[in-house]
Amino acid sequence: MLKPDDPNDASRGGVPIHLEGEDLPAPPLPGEKLVRRGPDEVIDALAADIVAESLRCVRRFGDFHLALSGGSTPQPLYERLMICPTYRSLPWQNTHLWIVDERCVPFDDQRSNFRMIRETIVEHSDIPPDQVHPIPATSPNADLEYEKTIRETLCWREKHEDRLDLVLLGMGPDGHTASLFPHTEALHETKRLVVFNEPKLEPMVRRVTMTYPLINNSRSIVVLVIGASKAATIQRLVSGRDTPDEMPIKGVRPMNGTLRWYLDAAACGL
Ligand code: 6PG
Repeated sequence: MLKPDDPNDASRGGVPIHLEGEDLPAPPLPGEKLVRRGPDEVIDALAADIVAESLRCVRRFGDFHLALSGGSTPQPLYERLMICPTYRSLPWQNTHLWIVDERCVPFDDQRSNFRMIRETIVEHSDIPPDQVHPIPATSPNADLEYEKTIRETLCWREKHEDRLDLVLLGMGPDGHTASLFPHTEALHETKRLVVFNEPKLEPMVRRVTMTYPLINNSRSIVVLVIGASKAATIQRLVSGRDTPDEMPIKGVRPMNGTLRWYLDAAACGL
């Protein structure tokens, strides 16, 4: 499934198109960076890039595998994708929707990531129901079941392309991403694609999360970080000596794909 990193390999995530806008100076994070003045401009640039990537993947593979995070930051992006006519060309009919991590609560619980994604995206798109893949987080075998679904769904792709096309991540104040929290067992997983993990922040419920092996093998990883409340974490990320065990976002290192940060000025401390 894995290949060594080769920047000239055309199977890597495509070149982003972004929308017109003023690019501000970016902090020295690994990978590509896009910094725009306010949240709206960041969201527009990311929405345009997601649509472009989805069309590219559907042209090439016949489908698009998109994994979305929960939390509060991406909700306006999901709403923009559904409401704004500019982004309605996203081919939902050919898209498979995956969830990066989930809280172990029923889908109608306020804390469920899938609940938010269902209400903002699924209920407003023509995505076929069998292409929507919530994590069955209340099942005692949720991790194994989700991993099986991922493997069985992606195995139809040609070799080396049997991977997620775009994984959207957020970042918590402690540097966690997905439900990969500092000093937790899931950070040391090298084979499994999905595991249970313990929370270190609210909501303090058990989680199910995609692991580094799955995230880092995807074609394209995008990290959306917005707001002044994240500025100290970005600062710590670029200037501190933390290990991935201390700041799990540091363990996000694509093996044969791209990593792009989408940030607003406030998150960069500008
Ligand atoms: C979750 C997420 C998590 C999130 C960060 C950032 O289930 O909470 O998947 O990794 O992306 O905690 O959350 P905010 O966007 O709410 O700051």
